[in-house]
Amino acid sequence: MFSSNASRLAQPALLPDFDRPSGLPAFNTVEQVIATYQGDDAIHLLYPQVIAAAAETFLTGFPGQVVYAVKANPHPAVLKILWASGIRNFDVASIREIDLVQSIAKDAQLFLMHPVKSRQTIRHAYRVGVRDMAFDCEAELTKILTETDHAGNLKLHLRLAISSGAAAMPLEGKFGATRRQAIALLRLARPHTAHLGLSFHVGSQCMDTADYERTIAYVRDLLNEADITIDSLDCGGGFPVAYPGMTPPPMADYFETIQTALTANGFKDITIYGEPGRALCAQGGSTLARVELRKGKALYLNDGSYGSLFDAAQCSWKYPTKLHTAEERSDTLEEFRFFGPTCDSLDMMEGPFALPADIQEGDWIEICHLGAYGQALATDFNGFQSDATVAILG
Ligand SMILES: Cc1ncc(COP(=O)(O)O)c(C=O)c1O
Repeated sequence: MFSSNASRLAQPALLPDFDRPSGLPAFNTVEQVIATYQGDDAIHLLYPQVIAAAAETFLTGFPGQVVYAVKANPHPAVLKILWASGIRNFDVASIREIDLVQSIAKDAQLFLMHPVKSRQTIRHAYRVGVRDMAFDCEAELTKILTETDHAGNLKLHLRLAISSGAAAMPLEGKFGATRRQAIALLRLARPHTAHLGLSFHVGSQCMDTADYERTIAYVRDLLNEADITIDSLDCGGGFPVAYPGMTPPPMADYFETIQTALTANGFKDITIYGEPGRALCAQGGSTLARVELRKGKALYLNDGSYGSLFDAAQCSWKYPTKLHTAEERSDTLEEFRFFGPTCDSLDMMEGPFALPADIQEGDWIEICHLGAYGQALATDFNGFQSDATVAILG
């Protein structure tokens, strides 16, 4: 809708290199990016090794198959890095996400785990090979069966409603079948599919491993009452990131707790899935925003809540910040709030963010841990939008 050439980088000839496998212009340092940049927008930084390391953590530690939740960061470079790191399964919600993943990794296995889909999305997904689909009510199940002509090779996943526990972002109230509904739906769906699964989501940024343990025990209890077997259990996303002010247990504790709960509840021999979004990409992405104006303790930046800082504004999340500037700045830190570039007063990030006391116009602030639900949520409101994304290899 708003086409801008403002966020261009210098001619590729000036760039040090291109990162394989992400295909991004690659730099060793953030300072090199700033020195080379000729555009006017914020810049998205990706750290491929950090994303690859997160993938490795899940591939070696999670007790089941890892399915990346594409919504967290659908940037083609992120998908390429994850594919190159060994991630083979992708949770998609829309036709665009399906087409995007298939354009990058045609052999990827796609899971359409959105519990409410348009008929066109179901038809498209089935046509291009998607067999795993979620539902949480009879109407959606009927929709899936109708639009796939009652295909015999569907893998159906019933999404459960669960009460929220220790998630910083609960996902309660919108999707999921209650216990009663789930029992009826499992019985209804079973004759239609050779693969019937259950799925749940404990809420995003789940701070307590016990939420997974409790939910897996609940699933066992529910299945005992329904007297029905399932072929897979999808433990969803929710795996947390250590943002400032939030100290989740180590990821290994989540994996161990899930493994123990699966064994204790008799789920040793079925397929297990996990759908991490945030945990795979948050720490591998930053936004580099420039200070356009300083008014006392307020810094006006070229990125904000309509850009990649939605959660910093709406949830007051205090992302870690680093100053990048050619000149020396004071060692004394002061607390600042940020304003974004649009004319909307909601475009404000309270923070506070600790930065050198003499920070000034033209300085660049790297806002870290924004690789998930940052760039992915950015709009082009007011013409402020950045398509500049680079890899930092150093
Ligand atoms: C169905 C589903 N799976 C996975 C995720 C990823 O969650 P997270 O980023 O908390 O890991 C989400 C996020 O909303 C989701 O809706």
